[in-house]
Amino acid sequence: MELQSPSRALLEADNLTKRYEDGQLALDHVNFAVAAGEIYAMLGGNGAGKTTTINLFLNFIEPTEGEARVDGIVTHRDPLAAKKKLAYVSENVMLYPNFTALQNLDFFARLGGRTDYSKDAYRDVLLRVGLQEEAHGRRLKGFSKGMRQKCGIAIAILKDAPAILLDEPTSGLDPKAAYEFIGLLDSLRGEGKAILMSTHDIFRARDVANTIGIMNQGKLVMQRSKQDLAGEDLEKVYVEYMAGYMDRETETV
Ligand SMILES: Nc1ncnc2c1ncn2[C@@H]1O[C@H](COP(=O)(O)OP(=O)(O)OP(=O)(O)O)[C@@H](O)[C@H]1O
Ligand SMILES: [Mg+2]
Repeated sequence: MELQSPSRALLEADNLTKRYEDGQLALDHVNFAVAAGEIYAMLGGNGAGKTTTINLFLNFIEPTEGEARVDGIVTHRDPLAAKKKLAYVSENVMLYPNFTALQNLDFFARLGGRTDYSKDAYRDVLLRVGLQEEAHGRRLKGFSKGMRQKCGIAIAILKDAPAILLDEPTSGLDPKAAYEFIGLLDSLRGEGKAILMSTHDIFRARDVANTIGIMNQGKLVMQRSKQDLAGEDLEKVYVEYMAGYMDRETETV
């Protein structure tokens, strides 16, 4: 029998590097790990490389160097096996506009091989992500961005994968929904999920994450645990890292 320690790393970036076809070095030898029962929040300015990192885990793109691993599986060697262990919510959730929320959940659950969910299970998960009951039977084309995002999160939960990737999950949510979403992340962590999220929301990242990473121009310029950041002003730390990096850039010009 395989012995699994509770801090087993489910998501690992190992010298992960991506140079796009046009020569843009989007990710430069990035290393981090997210264990089961942990939330890793990745901060960084526009174009820092956050989405590129997530897309490498999903094997939407292949690394130029290094590798991304999901539960030990190298994503570009065995993408199908890796994807089985991943749930993903993109920044702009793409679902079927002519299907209702319930129909979208049923469609995507079946696509993922789950035929065992009842209508009550769909209803419960939609309530869990904060989608009001009157919207469950409505077509998605009439939904706001935040409502679509909630459906995407519900589908990710139904997949029940050990690792969850979230690209700016709170970007379309109103303040109350964003607050509730943090509670939801906390409960998913309690179930032992490994969660990697990109976000521009420093304050929520600070509230919920076990580890915070700051990306700048493809490099992971800071990585600190929640304990290590206790008592510090994360916004100030963020600005200092950005400024420090820019100073170094200027020096080398
Ligand atoms: N398909 C692509 N082809 C070429 N360059 C790309 C491609 N996708 C992203 N890039 C470049 O890679 C870099 C990192 O982009 P990425 O989308 O990963 O940033 P991000 O941190 O997610 O930014 P944001 O906060 O705006 O979402 C940027 O310089 C971007 O221009
Ligand atoms: Mg992005």
